[in-house]
Amino acid sequence: MTMQQKIEKLKHEKNAVILAHYYQTGDIIDIADMVGDSYGLSKQAKETDADIIVFCGVRFMAESAKILSPDKKVLLPAIDAGCPMADMVTPRDIRRLRQEYPDAAVVCYVNSTSEVKAESDVCVTSSNAVKVVASLKEKRIVFVPDQNLARYVANRLPGKEIIPFSGYCIVHHRVGADDVDAARAAVPGALLLVHPECTGEVIEKADFVGSTAQIIDFATRSDHKTFIIGTEMGILHVLQKQNPEKQFYLLTTKLLCANMKKTKLADVLCALEYEQHEITVDQEIMDKARLSLENMLKA
Ligand code: 13P
Ligand code: SF4
Repeated sequence: MTMQQKIEKLKHEKNAVILAHYYQTGDIIDIADMVGDSYGLSKQAKETDADIIVFCGVRFMAESAKILSPDKKVLLPAIDAGCPMADMVTPRDIRRLRQEYPDAAVVCYVNSTSEVKAESDVCVTSSNAVKVVASLKEKRIVFVPDQNLARYVANRLPGKEIIPFSGYCIVHHRVGADDVDAARAAVPGALLLVHPECTGEVIEKADFVGSTAQIIDFATRSDHKTFIIGTEMGILHVLQKQNPEKQFYLLTTKLLCANMKKTKLADVLCALEYEQHEITVDQEIMDKARLSLENMLKA
């Protein structure tokens, strides 16, 4: 039996579902039951009737799945797959910011720890940040941890006063305007589609800005044939699979997230076989963090 067949068999025996983020490697995406962006996967985690969720992604995603589905067993196959940005802000930072800006709403990007979610008013993902912030009654918004997503939201909502925190994605933040110029020169006429975790100088030069799912949707619907992709390289697998007649070029080879590449097929098999590594979150933190996530889902 191949590894894929063993995974398939165990999945059925244990009523498990495999969720994978678009940044995972192609072999993981190909065995997943659902592939999505952070928002889509949170929704899937909440709605599935499986007993076990195997989350192929990074820790904050698996924790969000656990918070939204506390009765399910959530497994993270690669136990050390984390998101450096999620650790850039602490609950203490939030408490300090609340004292400094008592009239502000605190919005946290889903790329954050459960403890930070528990201290925040509402959570957002890259696909709904503008919509969720626009729906808040407060004019002033403390936005953690991603400074780039915060500035992107601020530019789209001039009526709001956004106070950005200093965090950033170590993968998207290292891409600059010079990378865009080089890619445009190499592929003239291509449309540039980027993620809002990119810096302002990259976003300014883009033809479209959106989450991974929104980038895939835009490219699939477009009549254009060539695209430069400004987000983590894993997304190319689905883009190419869904659009075999179109050409996709990665903006720069810097767009590689080592954490997203930690999940291997053998880890998924072990996760199913031994029901490891189970994600647990403190009950009180989980209940508070759920409010932030549910506020997002209903916005
Ligand atoms: P989306 O899944 O919202 O596109 O965000 C990408 C990301 O940073 C995941 O780590
Ligand atoms: Fe975190 Fe960036 Fe990797 Fe996403 S791509 S998991 S934000 S480091």
